Amino acid sequence: MKRIQFNNYGDASKMYLGEYELAQLKPNDVQVRVKAAAVNPLDWKQRRGDLKLFMNKKFPKGIGNDFSGIVEAIGSNVQNIKVGDEVFGTMDVKHPGAFAEKLITNSKYVTKKPINISHADASCLPIAAAVAWAALFIKGNVTQNSRVLINGCMGAVGSIAVQLAKEKGAWIAGTCSKKDIEEARKNGVNEVYEFTENNYWKKTQPFDVVFDTAGLMQQRIGFSMLKSNGKFIDINPTPMSMLKGLFIAKYKFTFATAAMKHLSDFANLAEKGILKAKIGKETNISKAIEILTEIENGNGAKGRTVIIF
Ligand SMILES: NC(=O)c1ccc[n+]([C@@H]2O[C@H](COP(=O)([O-])OP(=O)(O)OC[C@H]3O[C@@H](n4cnc5c(N)ncnc54)[C@H](OP(=O)(O)O)[C@@H]3O)[C@@H](O)[C@H]2O)c1
Repeated sequence: MKRIQFNNYGDASKMYLGEYELAQLKPNDVQVRVKAAAVNPLDWKQRRGDLKLFMNKKFPKGIGNDFSGIVEAIGSNVQNIKVGDEVFGTMDVKHPGAFAEKLITNSKYVTKKPINISHADASCLPIAAAVAWAALFIKGNVTQNSRVLINGCMGAVGSIAVQLAKEKGAWIAGTCSKKDIEEARKNGVNEVYEFTENNYWKKTQPFDVVFDTAGLMQQRIGFSMLKSNGKFIDINPTPMSMLKGLFIAKYKFTFATAAMKHLSDFANLAEKGILKAKIGKETNISKAIEILTEIENGNGAKGRTVIIF
């Protein structure tokens, strides 16, 4: 079987399209023939070694996390999924490898794909929807009465966060590049700021939640926009900011894993047309390394990139 893999941590040149053999299926695992796999920043962060403390030690390692496909085999304990089901899901952070013809993952990271959405659309959901859900509803306790600012509201995570917050009935402000302001308004962002605009944060009323998807907002500025009991939510924490987070009540950090158990909620929302990622480019496995390198270097297409098998 073919997959994109690497033999040691490092830059984009470490990736190659290689042959591999699937591991033995464990009792809670499912084996999936991949139909589509979406690109996330996590993919190259794992390959660079940024998360090596959390990863399995063996090489070669696969790359890629979010996927959609068809179940080919199930472990002896798997109850909710059967061979032939169309599913979408993600990989355990210890064992990436979704940019592959076939993969094995734990069934807890997989749910049935609604029939009215494509494999490409489904593959874009898991990490972006899980981290947005964790930030807004687990850490931020967002309700219909909340005022929420989403920093980076047109990114993969930010645009899904807008959809989730809007569905909840919250009032949303967002920041994005100048080119995206009109589209952000069309997406339902009530007040849109260009993130380079000087002191935009002084123009607005305080928020219950400031969700910094981009990881580029100074905490001092984020905190200055909060109500007294508001929360600043970071999904790109550094060791130092995580340490601070343990002592500062209004600073919260979170990871997608905190809400991966809500995959079936994402499926329901996608089925109703409430959750939908914007796909910018589709490619195939033989061109994927070139495209992944472009995205990593900041030269990718606008919207999500999906590898179609
Ligand atoms: N903790 C977790 O579990 C978790 C999960 C998913 C993602 N993440 C992290 O979250 C980050 C965002 O991921 P993503 O997939 O949404 O990436 P993305 O699609 O590239 O979105 C990033 C967005 O930030 C915008 N941006 C750039 N500079 C900005 C600034 N100075 N202020 C505000 N916004 C700015 C970009 O706008 P332009 O494109 O117009 O420049 C883009 O829309 C990544 O670092 C990723 O690793 C963490």
